Amino acid sequence: MRIEIPREVERFGHVMFHDVQKVYELDAGLKHKRNESKDSDRRVIRRISYESLQHVQEQMAVVVPIKDEKIKLIEGVLSGIPHHCLVIIVSNSKREGIDRYKIEKEALEHIGRFTKKDMFVVHQKDPKLAKACKDAGYDHILGDDGLVRNGKAEGMILSTILANLCGKKYIGFIDSDNYFPGAVHEYVQEYSAGFRHAKSDFSMVRIAWHSKPKIVESHLFFAKRGRASEHTNKMLNNLLSSYTGYGTEIIKTGNAGEHAMSMKLALNIDYSSGYSIEPFHYINVLERFGGIVESPMPEAATKKGIEFFQIESRNPHLHEVKGEEHVKSMSREAMECIYRSPICPEELKQEILEDLRNRGVLKKTEKMSETIRYYPALTKVDMRKFRKVIENEPYAEYLQLDLKGYKHLNGVNGLMREKVVTTDHLPKGDNFLEVK
Ligand code: GDD
Repeated sequence: MRIEIPREVERFGHVMFHDVQKVYELDAGLKHKRNESKDSDRRVIRRISYESLQHVQEQMAVVVPIKDEKIKLIEGVLSGIPHHCLVIIVSNSKREGIDRYKIEKEALEHIGRFTKKDMFVVHQKDPKLAKACKDAGYDHILGDDGLVRNGKAEGMILSTILANLCGKKYIGFIDSDNYFPGAVHEYVQEYSAGFRHAKSDFSMVRIAWHSKPKIVESHLFFAKRGRASEHTNKMLNNLLSSYTGYGTEIIKTGNAGEHAMSMKLALNIDYSSGYSIEPFHYINVLERFGGIVESPMPEAATKKGIEFFQIESRNPHLHEVKGEEHVKSMSREAMECIYRSPICPEELKQEILEDLRNRGVLKKTEKMSETIRYYPALTKVDMRKFRKVIENEPYAEYLQLDLKGYKHLNGVNGLMREKVVTTDHLPKGDNFLEVK
């Protein structure tokens, strides 16, 4: 891959937001004999060889969340994921009536035999996984029925634990409703390119779609941003500006469903439910590492900082269209997680309300109700206990045998959000999970 280095960077405490990077060549060839990284340090356009991308991918799990999608779509998505990644499919598809999960599992395992991909499928409502969460001290994602709650975020959190137990250093997410396998392939290459650039072990790569095609008056129109993203990005940027005093448009991937993280970062941030999970990454990293409010943080993260990369993909993004109400509720959840943050200033809260009311997402006098849940960082999970429960499951062959490198430090994690959110809720001490 040939990719430009970020032109701009906004620093915020220990956090670095890199501007969107453009990809010049999707495939830039094999490794040259001369030292690639030494050479690339001086250039504004970097060449990342196939081998270097593969090296990252060998250490990466790609998670595909599924809920009642068409098998043909999922098949295409799987064909796009580079071979060296471990694929974890976390399904929340229907089991009653026609058992869609059974159909998915059979179809996916069949594909796995042909592609010889490292891949496994789990169901979000598997009682074994719920027991593993409970025994491991992480019952936060369990619902009243004792099973993992519904939601894309909840599936992602569960699979992050599994990817960690598989010894992966990176975790990437790819929606299962993508019509273009080529786009899927490109996103994972870009995740890998981002990690190749990263100077810190605490890093995140987010995809800024080049375009999202739609039919407008019987012609193809390539829209630049999604309908929810525009508003989320604006509010996240306004949040940054409210502290720096300078206007900014640095954040262009507020809602990025396609994103990847280093495992160290994934384990050390809090999460929020449903579709607020992606904008909440920005919010929580700012809360934890932005230096706005006092918050304990792992020393390793403060040394090299936390890096956000945003990479503009070349393929258009075409996925299942789920309707106006779906987009509205996604947008509302995104705004709620900004609104409810202890670092959100009062003026921004008013701006958020106004924006939601103007778009008809909230009624004229309606207040922001509390619909999203917050989940503490996965440092809460006792990985050994979690593994114990699942060690006889069919996918146990992918689990790392030796957990010696893991220290479970049953610490107080993250910020506590009560009905009224003030900075008084910040914990005064915290422990973090170090992964060797
Ligand atoms: N495991 C699991 N559990 N997967 C789920 C669940 C669930 O409860 N709900 C949805 N999914 C899967 C879907 O099958 C799909 O593959 C993926 O999660 C995304 O869900 P969609 O409902 O299709 O979301 P979207 O396409 O409207 O929005 C996507 O893009 C947004 C950015 O525009 C999502 O990735 C959003 O999170 C993102 O903000």
